[in-house]
Amino acid sequence: MVRSVNFEEELRVKAERAEEVIRCFLPEAAGFQRKITEAMNYSMTAGGKRLRPVMMAESYRMLGGTKAVIEPFMAAIEMIHTHSLIHDDLPAIDNDLYRRGRKTTHAVYGEALGVLSGDGLLNYAYETALQAFLHPDDRERTVRALSVLAKKTGIYGMLGGQSVDVENEKNETAVLSREELDAIYLHKTSALLEASLMIGAILAGADRGTVSCMEQIGSRAGLAFQIQDDILDVTSTEEELGKPVFSDEKNHKTTYVTLLGVEGASRRVQELTDEAVCLLESLTGDREFLRSLLKYLAFRKK
Ligand code: IPE
Ligand code: IPE
Ligand code: MG
Ligand code: MG
Ligand code: MG
Repeated sequence: MVRSVNFEEELRVKAERAEEVIRCFLPEAAGFQRKITEAMNYSMTAGGKRLRPVMMAESYRMLGGTKAVIEPFMAAIEMIHTHSLIHDDLPAIDNDLYRRGRKTTHAVYGEALGVLSGDGLLNYAYETALQAFLHPDDRERTVRALSVLAKKTGIYGMLGGQSVDVENEKNETAVLSREELDAIYLHKTSALLEASLMIGAILAGADRGTVSCMEQIGSRAGLAFQIQDDILDVTSTEEELGKPVFSDEKNHKTTYVTLLGVEGASRRVQELTDEAVCLLESLTGDREFLRSLLKYLAFRKK
């Protein structure tokens, strides 16, 4: 119990550090671009767990990284993630009005700026990540990290998953199979967790086996994370989550809860978490925080 209190304090400190890094890279809301940058910063500063930058920084630290080259990538992954949330909430996708404890971006700024500020963040993520080239010692690693960031975000990653997920959403009668649902989740959610852990490893100079192991950990952890998100959608409250509950039911979605029930889905979260932890144990380095984080996420309440 004492250890879990320590972990939660450590997580709070690491998330706060990620917050500082993210804020350093946000665009200035001024001049000709004032409205779009205001909308971008509205969602970026609304809070959020900052899980992806925390995982990235931790993978980097665990594998021996000590430099600031990780920072533009930490900000970039959170910009990409936030872009995915702004667009996920749009009327054409999940049509939700509440996110991170605030009205969604399109609800405040209108649909057009919802689309454009999401695009703005996606592009600004790369403008930001490119700043890693200002660290000349790390050029080759930076190229590899950028390539992972781009691939895991695009059609072979998160955006590919979101695009198949909307077919699920718009089809009121069809029920997806476990395999189809896994394929969607591995793309829409696991891909950015994989990118976070892999980029940390690449920038720390880890070998290819270690980078690939980080990818596997991210894949399991991402699947578990999305299944837990399905569970919270039916068991939590809007106040706790900072986003609407029963969004999946509203959109007639097949989820792990509709397929396996809450208990079955929770068992799957536990199995996947055990697999992720087991993979982590095969690596060297100080794994304690990442191990605790993976376990904590399996029981997360928000
Ligand atoms: C929400 O991600 C979208 C999913 C992949 C389920 P998070 O739960 O990490 O959202 P924030 O960043 O904390 O708002
Ligand atoms: C979306 O999954 C995951 C993304 C890539 C944005 P959900 O649609 O279930 O995420 P929430 O519940 O709105 O955060
Ligand atoms: Mg969605
Ligand atoms: Mg949604
Ligand atoms: Mg959800």
